[in-house]
Amino acid sequence: MDAAWLRSLPTLTGRAPEFGQVPDDPVALFRSWLAAAVDRGVPEPHAMTLATVDADGMPDARTLILKDVSRAGWAFAGDRRSAKALQLTMRPAAALAFWWQPMVRAVRVRGHVQEASAAESAADLAARSPAAREGIAVEDWALWRVVPERVEFWQGSPDRRHVRVVYRRGDGGWAPETLRAEAGVHETEET
Ligand SMILES: Cc1cc2nc3c(=O)[nH]c(=O)nc-3n(C[C@H](O)[C@H](O)[C@H](O)COP(=O)(O)O)c2cc1C
Repeated sequence: MDAAWLRSLPTLTGRAPEFGQVPDDPVALFRSWLAAAVDRGVPEPHAMTLATVDADGMPDARTLILKDVSRAGWAFAGDRRSAKALQLTMRPAAALAFWWQPMVRAVRVRGHVQEASAAESAADLAARSPAAREGIAVEDWALWRVVPERVEFWQGSPDRRHVRVVYRRGDGGWAPETLRAEAGVHETEET
């Protein structure tokens, strides 16, 4: 394997649907994109990358399953004795990334992380299969939510006029901004 070979592999080979309307609320758009991915037969479309940082600021990332999405945030669950749990205790902030290859769609979510109630964590553990519950005491299991500050929806296009819709949480609620790349030019975002 070499760099030239890697570069020769095709990218953005999926087929993107119409972007459609941009609702005021990122949760509504996320749900419609997730449903579209299910309809298209994307395998395990609720798998996502969860990134956290450790006490030294060193990033970490791993694959998790999305448990719920609502106005309260994007929910995920895991073992309190895990590295992610330790990192979230010290730095309760995270980023999530989804990539639905056949749709040429990606979503990024950033925000602070809140631990759910003991009852919600216990309910999540109880909903797992017996095999997945094995060896996990109820007090070892936690459900967390990323409470979003910024949510980005990215949709690729064969002519490279990729579309990004960025939602930022402001005082008056969500403010979506649509960024369209000129062909061959990378889109920029005002910060
Ligand atoms: C498709 C897939 C789904 C996974 N779902 C979860 C999950 O929902 N919760 C979890 O704790 N780990 C899940 N894992 C395992 C994690 O990727 C990871 O190995 C584990 O949580 C330990 O991570 P940590 O050491 O960074 O805490 C999943 C792995 C894969 C590949």
